[in-house]
Amino acid sequence: MVQSLVKSSLIPGFYKLSPQDRLALLRQFADLSDAECRLLKNTGSLPLDLADHMIENVVGAMPMPFGIGVNFLINKRDYLIPMVTEEPSVVAAASYAAKMVREGGGFHASSTPPVMIGQIQAVDIEKPEAAKLSVLAAKQEILKKANEQDPLLASVGGGAKDLDAKVIHTTMGDMMIAELQVDCRDAMGANAVNTMAEAVAPLIEQLTGGKVLLRIISNLATKRLAKAWCTVPKESVGGEEVVDGILNASAFAAADPYRAATHNKGAMNGIIAVVLATGNDHRAIEAGAHAYASLKGKYTSLSTWEKDPNGDLTGSIELPMAVGLIGGAVRTHPIAKIAVKILGVKTANEFSEVLAAVGLAQNLGALRALASEGIQRGHMSLHARNIAMAAGVPEQLLERVARRMVEERKIRMDRARELMKKLSAAGQ
Ligand code: MEV
Repeated sequence: MVQSLVKSSLIPGFYKLSPQDRLALLRQFADLSDAECRLLKNTGSLPLDLADHMIENVVGAMPMPFGIGVNFLINKRDYLIPMVTEEPSVVAAASYAAKMVREGGGFHASSTPPVMIGQIQAVDIEKPEAAKLSVLAAKQEILKKANEQDPLLASVGGGAKDLDAKVIHTTMGDMMIAELQVDCRDAMGANAVNTMAEAVAPLIEQLTGGKVLLRIISNLATKRLAKAWCTVPKESVGGEEVVDGILNASAFAAADPYRAATHNKGAMNGIIAVVLATGNDHRAIEAGAHAYASLKGKYTSLSTWEKDPNGDLTGSIELPMAVGLIGGAVRTHPIAKIAVKILGVKTANEFSEVLAAVGLAQNLGALRALASEGIQRGHMSLHARNIAMAAGVPEQLLERVARRMVEERKIRMDRARELMKKLSAAGQ
């Protein structure tokens, strides 16, 4: 099989091969060198057979930097925050902001019960409004059927708790959408909710006389929200002018979707880094956050910054936070398990509150920099280091090459190489 490969991406049975055999095929296709294959194969702390069971068509693993956000005081408890990201300055900015917030007593955070929504789509219904009422009238029966799917969840206080139904008007005609509300406790809940949604589908068909199509969790988790807020003394932020700058940045994001997208991206820099470190589904969190930011019909900011009567800065953030501590990669990936241990969170609710606080910190870190010295100063030294590394500058010259490029404001590979040559020639 390996020998017979021509350069086609049509590879029947690729999934059945071992990671080694897949790599052999890949090597031919992409002309990978021995060294490149060795790098891919080196899965580090994620055993290859575990990786091979996590997703399909595995050939290796990709390590990412794992950093620690410090200085976080949340609901009067100290936390060290595991963060996985490829972006320079994120961990430093979060830690810096957490220190400022600490000077004002730390973050406060709260969350709703961990309720996820499961949608069941019924089409081809003659009288959708009447069908909706029939579904609502059968709520107890539907909830019972849903809860039979997961007795364990019910035994720990979770399970399907409520049911809603709505009629929507679409390009394909009217549809009746039933929405199960499931308390997922410490699970993210996609499996439990999807199983329940599938199980109640025949009942929904009976009740509506229609046909059920989609049965799936919604990532717009408006019933599973986390909130964090803080007050930062104006002196800690850098004085009145910086506070006013942050207020203007907040107003800008509230009014303009182009700015709101970047403002929210800043908050998500922190949240997603922690979500990744713990092996949670970061796409679910991103989707939920941005959909929530548009819920009122116009995309806007997830956080708000104001000034209290004392002139100190106050900020808050609220967003859906569908994260779990059990199930999936959270419980299988060895590094994710360590990340959860570092966090020390005991429930998914506590975890969601920490994430909201991290998002607020990250947002504050970015706005403070933007409203004072600008973002590039902090960013540039790490960026320059990365460029120098990519240009092949040896470890002993990295710092000097990076510093020179920042001073000259010429952060480019060709300049890194020139400087490397110059410094090497000068024997430095
Ligand atoms: C960069 O990753 C994030 C920022 O653009 C966020 C912001 O502008 O608020 C700095």
